[in-house]
Amino acid sequence: MGITIGLPAETKQGERRVALSPSAVHSQTERGHRVLVQAGAGDGAGFSDTDYKAAGADLLPDVGEIWGADVVVKVKEPQPEEYRYFRSDLVLFAFLHLAAEPELTDALLDSGINAYAFETLGDRHGLPLLAPMSEIAGRAAAIVGAAQLSAVTGGSGTLMGGAAGVPPAKALVIGLGVAGTMAARGMRGLDAHVTGVDVDLGRLYDHKLAGIVDATQVSETKLVGEHVVDADLVVGAALVPGAKAPTVITEEQVASMRPGSVVVDLAIDQGGCIATARPTSLGDPTYTEHGVLHYCVTNVPGQFPRTASAALSAAVAPRLLRLADDVAAGRAGTVEESPALTGARNVNDGVIVHEGVAEAFTDRPHAVGRTEE
Ligand SMILES: NC(=O)c1ccc[n+]([C@@H]2O[C@H](COP(=O)([O-])OP(=O)(O)OC[C@H]3O[C@@H](n4cnc5c(N)ncnc54)[C@H](O)[C@@H]3O)[C@@H](O)[C@H]2O)c1
Repeated sequence: MGITIGLPAETKQGERRVALSPSAVHSQTERGHRVLVQAGAGDGAGFSDTDYKAAGADLLPDVGEIWGADVVVKVKEPQPEEYRYFRSDLVLFAFLHLAAEPELTDALLDSGINAYAFETLGDRHGLPLLAPMSEIAGRAAAIVGAAQLSAVTGGSGTLMGGAAGVPPAKALVIGLGVAGTMAARGMRGLDAHVTGVDVDLGRLYDHKLAGIVDATQVSETKLVGEHVVDADLVVGAALVPGAKAPTVITEEQVASMRPGSVVVDLAIDQGGCIATARPTSLGDPTYTEHGVLHYCVTNVPGQFPRTASAALSAAVAPRLLRLADDVAAGRAGTVEESPALTGARNVNDGVIVHEGVAEAFTDRPHAVGRTEE
């Protein structure tokens, strides 16, 4: 039996991605599910309403009708004006980053909705729905970080690769997972000197051996501080899935940096791994604190919607099929749920059911000790 799947247009500032491409929609309609697409939802990513119609979708102008579906799939966490659409028989599948979103978490808990997060869904390779966006955000971090060092944007005027007789810029990457690795590759490609920081010694060894970084540093705050003082560009990309990001760089260490140095904290979507980081938007991406430029945009891939929508959609579509089948069969939210959704369920019937997320909300009595994963 088919269900209805809603695909609303994104509402977060500057966000142009869409969660499903027309071909991903086709994979759902082919299976007998009805897909309701908000008119214009794919415009920012280069997918027209005609493309979606050809894929078997129903195009609707009214966003309320889209949210009336059995399952709503979207890219970014719902914005406050969307909370009114939450209801107990709705399944939501999107990036949620709840550890940094207490108001959204309360709205999800109060509504009784079943919320599945892209970023905590795991498989044997890691986090397959977060990874494509981390890949893009990491590549982008190298580009925007290097650009922010320009004197025109208020940076120190340091060029990443230096020049003959002038040393290159020093870059520091915190967390050498998917995002950190791509940032390091990008910055090395610009001939900067890159030091990688991680808690995982095996990862540091592999990255040094593969030439992805010039040097490595185990993640210990005091030792990392010795690199921060000298760094022109710091990229934050440390993650403990579901949990609030660990604070690896202190405010005092940021204050020790040269004026016009730059920090790009990608981990800001989980609260940030640099103490002075606070969320910014694509429309107003930077602020200066202690003389250091901060770029802490929570939806970095949103500025590359063609690439990012295609990459995200390819990863989401097969999992959405499993989720839709589970919903149709009444298995969603039960122990019989598909293993393809492992780790994704964050909030279920008014309870936080993901351990990492619950740890970020120990002040919410109804979350404590009620985790299932
Ligand atoms: N801002 C954005 O637009 C955007 C986009 C995509 C991803 N992200 C975020 O980037 C972050 C990294 O994502 P990822 O996919 O690369 O994660 P990942 O799991 O691939 O890598 C995380 C790395 O952090 C390391 N780590 C954990 N604790 C650490 C610590 N205390 N010190 C140093 N390293 C530590 C882990 O060992 C791992 O190597 C996440 O918060 C993710 O949500 C942000």
